[in-house]
Amino acid sequence: MKQKIKPRSMMYPAPAVVASAYDECGNADACTLAFASMCSHRPPAVMIAINSTLKRKTLKDILESKEFALGFPSAEHAAEVDYFGIASGYDMDKLEDVYFTHKNADYVNAQIINEFKVSLECKVIDVNPVGSHTQITGEIVNVLADESVLNEKAKIQLEKLNPLCYDDVTHSYFAIGEKIADAFKAGLKYMK
Ligand SMILES: Cc1cc2nc3c(=O)[nH]c(=O)nc-3n(C[C@H](O)[C@H](O)[C@H](O)COP(=O)(O)O)c2cc1C
Repeated sequence: MKQKIKPRSMMYPAPAVVASAYDECGNADACTLAFASMCSHRPPAVMIAINSTLKRKTLKDILESKEFALGFPSAEHAAEVDYFGIASGYDMDKLEDVYFTHKNADYVNAQIINEFKVSLECKVIDVNPVGSHTQITGEIVNVLADESVLNEKAKIQLEKLNPLCYDDVTHSYFAIGEKIADAFKAGLKYMK
């Protein structure tokens, strides 16, 4: 028996990622986002959505600079990521507060958070208001990955990254479980 539940934004699984950008004075800010997804192969692109009805410093910085970095935290970063999502760069230097270090991105005017093992450098190619949020599409112009998360073919291995997941319904963080099947192969048994 299925039950009807009041409509709300949801996605399973949802990530907890961190968008970072510089403001006009060159100060770095970073904010946690669950509204994030890949959205194009060519060009490689991601989309993020930031609430525009509330005061988010990162939204202002990204819209002004037209560039941002997107860091993929690992499960071990849950507390720091949570802090980036409850404190505002308008009030504090969040990176300093959690002792995270950062460097300038190679291709865009944003900062890469060193503690995150994989980061994307993105240039804004589209901005679209959707209800309460501003949906921003970023073309990925560079990917930076720690050697520690790469396999022997220099590809990012999900198990090594151990990315942080987020459940917006229960406000909980999760880690991803083990690999269960090969994509583009598991379904072949139904192919006539
Ligand atoms: C787990 C988590 C996920 C979040 N996801 C989003 C999101 O997708 N979009 C958004 O606008 N705010 C999101 N937030 C809230 C912002 O991260 C938060 O308001 C932050 O303090 C903004 O910081 P800033 O003012 O420095 O930009 C999330 C917070 C948490 C804890």
